[in-house]
Order: sequence, then C-alpha cells, then structure tokens
Amino acid sequence: MKVGMIGCGVISQQYLASFEQLPDVQLVAVADLDPARAEAAAEGRAGVRALTVDELLTDAEVDTVLNLTIPAAHADIDLRAIAAGKHVYSEKPFAVTTQEGAEVLVAAQQAGVLVGSAPDTVLGTGTQTARAALDQGLIGAPTAATATMVTPGHERWHPHPDFYYVPGGGPLLDMGPYYIHALVTLLGPVSAVIGAASRPRPERTIGSGPRAGESIPVSTDTHVTGVLVHESGVLSTLVMSFEAVATSAHPIEIHGTEGTLAVPDPNHFDGEVTVRRLAGEGWEPLPVTGGYGEAGRGIGLQDMAVRGPELRAGGELGQHVLEVMNAVLESSRSGTRIEIASTIARPEAVEHQEVPA
Ligand SMILES: NC(=O)c1ccc[n+]([C@@H]2O[C@H](COP(=O)([O-])OP(=O)(O)OC[C@H]3O[C@@H](n4cnc5c(N)ncnc54)[C@H](O)[C@@H]3O)[C@@H](O)[C@H]2O)c1
Repeated sequence: MKVGMIGCGVISQQYLASFEQLPDVQLVAVADLDPARAEAAAEGRAGVRALTVDELLTDAEVDTVLNLTIPAAHADIDLRAIAAGKHVYSEKPFAVTTQEGAEVLVAAQQAGVLVGSAPDTVLGTGTQTARAALDQGLIGAPTAATATMVTPGHERWHPHPDFYYVPGGGPLLDMGPYYIHALVTLLGPVSAVIGAASRPRPERTIGSGPRAGESIPVSTDTHVTGVLVHESGVLSTLVMSFEAVATSAHPIEIHGTEGTLAVPDPNHFDGEVTVRRLAGEGWEPLPVTGGYGEAGRGIGLQDMAVRGPELRAGGELGQHVLEVMNAVLESSRSGTRIEIASTIARPEAVEHQEVPA
C-alpha cells in the first residue's frame, strides 16, 4: 500500500514512528494546509515527498490517502480522495455528521475503493484479549457494561485545541470512538440509545504552545452520558467527560452471569485484562491471548493492506459508531430514545501475533 498522508499535526508523529514496523505499508507523500508542516514531516525520510493537498490527491504513486486532518475536514478530504480513485483511511471520528459519513461510504462503494477508520487501538492485545475471554465464555453470558473516560480537558496539553470544542469534538466524538469501537468489538452492534449531556463552561484556556493563555469558545457538549442498547440486549452505560479531574473506574467493565471483566484503556493498544469471577476472590490478571502485540497507530492500515475488503478497522464500523454518538447527543437534546438505523457484524477477532501478518 502506497500511502499519502494528509494532515501533519500532533497525531502524525505517532504514525510516522510506526510506518517502518508495517511491512505492507509505505509512506510516499505528505501534505498539509500548512506547507511547512508537510516539509517538516518529509524531512529526512527517503522516498517521501512533501506535496500540496491537490497534488497528493492526484499523485500517481499514492494509492491510499491517510486522513489525519481535523474532524471537520475528514469527510471532505475522504470524498476528494475517493473521487480521485484512492482508498482512504481516516482518523476518528469518521466524520462530524452521520449524513456526511454515509456519503463517504456510498461514494467509496460506487468508486470501488476501500474505506478504513481509526481507532485501530482495539486491534491491540488489551481489547482483543478481553474479546477472546468473552468468546470463550469466561464471564458467562454478558449482561451489561460501563465505559468511563474523564479528563479536565485536552486544551491543557494540545497547542491547537480548538477542534475539541466545536461539533465533531467534545469528549464523545473525540474519545467515544475508542470506547464504542471497543464495546462493539466486544458486545456487538448498538440498536438504540438514550443520552443526557451538559456544557457547563462557555470558554476554555489554552495551556501550552504559542497560544498559551488564549481563550477559545465552547460550542459542543463537554460532559456526555448515555445508555447504549446493544442488539444482543446488553446495556452499556457511557460517561465521557472533559469536566472531571480523574476517575478510579476501570475504563471498560463487562459484566456477565459468571464474572466481571475489566478491560484496559481502549486508547492504548495493550494493558492488563483482569477478571473477577463469581466463584473467585479478587481480580485475576489474564495472560495475553489476542491482538497484535507491540502495535502502534497504523496497524489498522496494515490490516487493511493485507485483508482488503475484510479489513477490521473499516469505514462501516466507523460510521456505525458515528451514528451511535450523534444519536446520544440528539437524544440528550430531544429527551427521547433514538433507534440506530445502521448495524454491523462484530469485526473478526485478532489472534495473538507479534508481527502483523
Ligand atoms: N492529538 C492526538 O493525541 C490524537 C490522537 C488520536 C487521534 N487524533 C485525531 O487525529 C486528527 C488530527 O488530530 P491532531 O491532534 O493531529 O490535530 P492537529 O491540529 O495537531 O493537526 C491537524 C493537521 O491537519 C491540517 N489540516 C486541517 N485541515 C486540513 C485540510 N482541509 N487539508 C489539509 N490539512 C488540513 C492542519 O493544518 C494540521 O496540521 C483528529 O481527527 C484527532 O481526533 C488525535
């Protein structure tokens, strides 16, 4: 796969660090609205050209566009790449509105190209070991789950945090993809949601970089709670917040008739899975039994390069999760339960393997 990367900001550093570990993925070009960022990303990397966005989209060598722009630009860049006949892989969230996400999938289907979507962290050993434990019946029949993510706010460390506080950002669209991709990977698709959300503070203050001290307006909900009704009948309770200092809750807990599984942070590839058995005492760590070991951001691209249309971090999963997240926000506004139109099979489990294959 010959990749052209659009968007050379904070997260691009993690992708740039992983490319050498991905045997079937080769970075050949980079672009950014800010040409200096593209030049910096290409510097010292043999075979990687810094181009304009338009040049990259029509470049003959590029067959796949890796979209690392801000959420508001995801669908537009994807659609332009698809129109140029390229496969696309987008950072999360898949798009901002459910409608524009759907347009990307339709365009890709018509063009006969593949669509991938972050997060690929759930292909790592943390979520996949939990998946293997569930599939082996370790906690009996799953009944319920919780997903908890709290932080005081990314403006404390991100030098350009504006996108976190507009539609497409907020704790749900920013961090929710990790947790809901994991919940769908573990428990299957969601058929309905109920949400409640708040936005207590109108402004945030940038804490680092050249704009430190600058106030930015908040135009999206910053504390979001919801209940996801899975097709299986399992109920997941979600707390996603930029309004809390800390939590001691496990990032994800899955409850079943025979035990409770504690799943590590789905924003990381690894981490310890523990179980508390109905008949046992205390939390027992589980050995690693699933997932790509030593993985970093970009493993989803490798999975796409090898598996083609069977890719696990696929656009349809990204779109299902986007629909779920927007429905939680819509439910919070309307005060009603929202049915989810899309559905998706659980992505195939990843067998434990150290080297991507
Ligand atoms: N920062 C993180 O820790 C992190 C982690 C995981 C995922 N992400 C996701 O990655 C994406 C990018 O986040 P980031 O933190 O790197 O943001 P960033 O603001 O640091 O970088 C985004 C880059 O995209 C460029 N850009 C914006 N619109 C563009 C367009 N239309 N065409 C070309 N370039 C454009 C900007 O100039 C900037 O260089 C977001 O979707 C975010 O949710 C970020």
